[in-house]
Parts: sequence; structure tokens; C-alpha cells
Amino acid sequence: MTQNFKPCVTEIVGSYWGDEGKGRVASFEASDARLVLRTTGGNNAGHTIYYQGNKIPLHLVPGGIIYPQTTVIICNGVVIDPNVLYDEIQLLNCYISVTPERLIVSDCAHIIMPYHIYLDWIQEKMRDANKIGTTNRGIGPCYEDEAKRIGIRMQDLFRSEESLRQKLELALGFHHEILESNGIYYNVDALYHFCMEVKEKIGKFIGNPESLIAKALAAGDKIVIEGAQADHLDLLWGDYPNCTSSQCNPSGTLSGAGIGPVYAKKVIATMKSYCSRVGSGPFPTELFNEEGDLIRNLGHEYGTTTGRPRRCGWLDLVAFPKTRGYTDICLNHLDTIGLIGQKLGYIKVCVSYTYQGNVTTTFPTDVEVTGEVPIPNYEVFEGGWEISSDCKSYTQLPQKAKDFIALIENVTNVPVSYIGIGPNNEDTIVR
Ligand code: IMP
Repeated sequence: MTQNFKPCVTEIVGSYWGDEGKGRVASFEASDARLVLRTTGGNNAGHTIYYQGNKIPLHLVPGGIIYPQTTVIICNGVVIDPNVLYDEIQLLNCYISVTPERLIVSDCAHIIMPYHIYLDWIQEKMRDANKIGTTNRGIGPCYEDEAKRIGIRMQDLFRSEESLRQKLELALGFHHEILESNGIYYNVDALYHFCMEVKEKIGKFIGNPESLIAKALAAGDKIVIEGAQADHLDLLWGDYPNCTSSQCNPSGTLSGAGIGPVYAKKVIATMKSYCSRVGSGPFPTELFNEEGDLIRNLGHEYGTTTGRPRRCGWLDLVAFPKTRGYTDICLNHLDTIGLIGQKLGYIKVCVSYTYQGNVTTTFPTDVEVTGEVPIPNYEVFEGGWEISSDCKSYTQLPQKAKDFIALIENVTNVPVSYIGIGPNNEDTIVR
């Protein structure tokens, strides 16, 4: 027997510390997709979609839902705050009709329970000087319960009352001491009531998406996965412990949907023409001076989910992950870095570090242990550029911008196939 896999999955993943603008390329790729999936993270992620001139902020529902031919699925790997999901459905319903045919919530996805949000706050407080700077949405504690095998999943809402109460009692048994010592009191009645409210609000969207995904894979229909967070925030391969609690690298992003690697057709790394990070953790090219302020202001680097000002710095090509098999790069903010270059008279790109006395092109994994921050070695571009509003193709870009792109391609060995040259999704050059 010969197998006949049809690679038809396009994944969009952040390649640094998140907020690289996945929404732009996700929206472009979803326009002719059959299925659009979210597979990791929760409402710690966020992007804004535009529909008929309206701005719609989304944290859970894949933005691809705005295209009439798509079905969108929130897969097993996602942890779901049901009230946030319900509010998003209500908001989307103002513009399109969100039916159970258009949106499926996996019955195996875990629910962020109200106590997870408190536990996130409490655990951050306990970490004291070593705070991660989480989004305080209960993401980590929910995944912890998943690993402990005491999580409450969407399908649990359909258990008998007695069986659900037993599950809630077990979960609460693990947490009530720490909650109560922090003045937070929950009982099984309140949690059962919460679950019934959730069932009432979103129950009709809950189902098993496997047959739908299997059918699309068998037919070779286009499937787009909107990644969440980013490679350096991955629990396994990111900057542990300053990372999120899911595997948001390209393999984990596929795994969250239960899709095998043979189906990957395109793995798109999103990146900006500079770097930013929220929360704690290593950031070798971070700028603490007016250069950083300029990037933050011109790039509007304030969190969509939390509103926090982001840490900003020069583009760091050493930090670009080298083993993930990215097939394409979506480079955003090419216009912004050009303006920064015009204002400062230069643009810098990090191409190696000096770390522990040696020059290296490998991102060190032990900065938490050594306490040493790698010193970036930069390639410097003189001046900057302005991209005219009628620029529609790569050939129309200023030569300096092309040189900047060439450096990225040479160092990463990945083609820059999508280029963001303005704030709107249409301001994208596709090569
Ligand atoms: P958590 O995911 O809320 O547990 O936060 C863990 C770390 O990941 C913190 O440093 C957060 O700031 C960061 N983080 C989580 N989600 C995102 C995101 O979507 N963009 C950027 N950083 C994120």
C-alpha cells in the first residue's frame, strides 16, 4: 500500500517573543482556507481583525471566521476562558452569524476556571523578585491542572451532576488551601453553577472536531493554523522559566490540533524589523535609551492584551530559531524601521553575540544560570528609508530596505515572502 498524504497545512508562528503581527499573514492566508484553527495558548494571545471597516479584537476565536467559506476550530491544545469566548462570539455576532457550523470548540479543550486566574496572581506574588510577568489570565495554572490530570474539560459540562461535582471537588481539593490563605473562597456549589452557566452560553459550539479535520486533510483542503505566543515563549524550547506554559513552537502548534508533521506545507515565521518582548527574560538587544523609546513610539509597542509598554530593541538574528523548518518569513514593520533609521541616522541588526568571552551565533540557553547578558555584535545600516504609499511590490522598495531583507535571508536561510509596509493588512507585499 502506498500512502498519499497531501501537505495542506499552513502554520503561522511567532519566531521571537510574541506580538510579531501574526494577524496580518493569518488573515491573508485564511482568505482561501477551508479550516482555520487555534491550537495553543489561550486569551493571553490577541490580535485585531478588520471587517468591513470595523476593528474586532479577538483573543480566542480564529480571525479567519470572517471569511464565509471557513469553519474555525478551537482545538484541544487551547485553554479557554469561557466568558472571554462568549463575549467574543457576541461581538462577532454583531457582524457575522457565528453558528455551530462555523465555530467548533473541541470537547477536549480545558476550561480556565475562576480559581486559575486567582492562582496565576498568587503564584506571581510568590515568585516575588523572579516574577515571570504573566498575563494573569490563568493560563499557566490551567495547563498545570491539565498535567496533574485534574483539569475540567469542555466535555465535562455534559457529565451527570454527581460526576461533575466529583471532578470539581477533586480539583478544589488541590487548590483550596492556597486560595483560602489568600482570602479566596470557592465551594463546589459555586463552581458547579459556573459550569452550568458556561454550558448554557457556549454548549452548542462544543464538539469533537476530529472527523472534520480528517476530512479536510484527506481532501487536501487548505488548513491554516493561527499560532499563539512565539518560539522563545515555548515551554520546552523557549527561555524557561520566562516563557508561557504551552508548546507554541511549530511542532507544538501542529500537535495542539493533533495534526501530524507530514501535513505541513508552509511554516511561516513572523518577525518584526526590530524586536520586542513583554514580561521578564533575556533580551540581548534591548535598548534602555531614546533609541528604544523611538521604536516603542513609532512601532506602537503597547500590548493588545494587557496594554503594557513592551521592551524594545534592535532586530536580533542570533535569536531566530534555526531548527524549526520555517519555510517563509513574514517581516513586519519594514516601514517603521526605515523611519527609525531616518531619525537616528542608522539601523542596527545583531548578527552575533559576545558571550562568556567568545563570539557566538547560538542563542545561549543558560543566561539564567550565568547571570550574564550576551553582548550583541551589530551590522549597521547607514540612514533609513521611506516607503511610498503606492509601493505594491518588492521591486519598488528602496534599495536599502532590500539590503536589510537580504541580510535577514542570508543569516536565517529562509525567504522573506511577506513584507509588512504599513499598519493595515492590505499594506503587505507578497513576493
Ligand atoms: P502567560 O502566558 O500569561 O503565563 O505569561 C507567560 C509569559 O509569556 C509572560 O512573559 C507573558 O508576557 C508572555 N506572553 C504570553 N502571551 C503572550 C503574547 O501573546 N505575546 C507576547 N507575550 C506573551
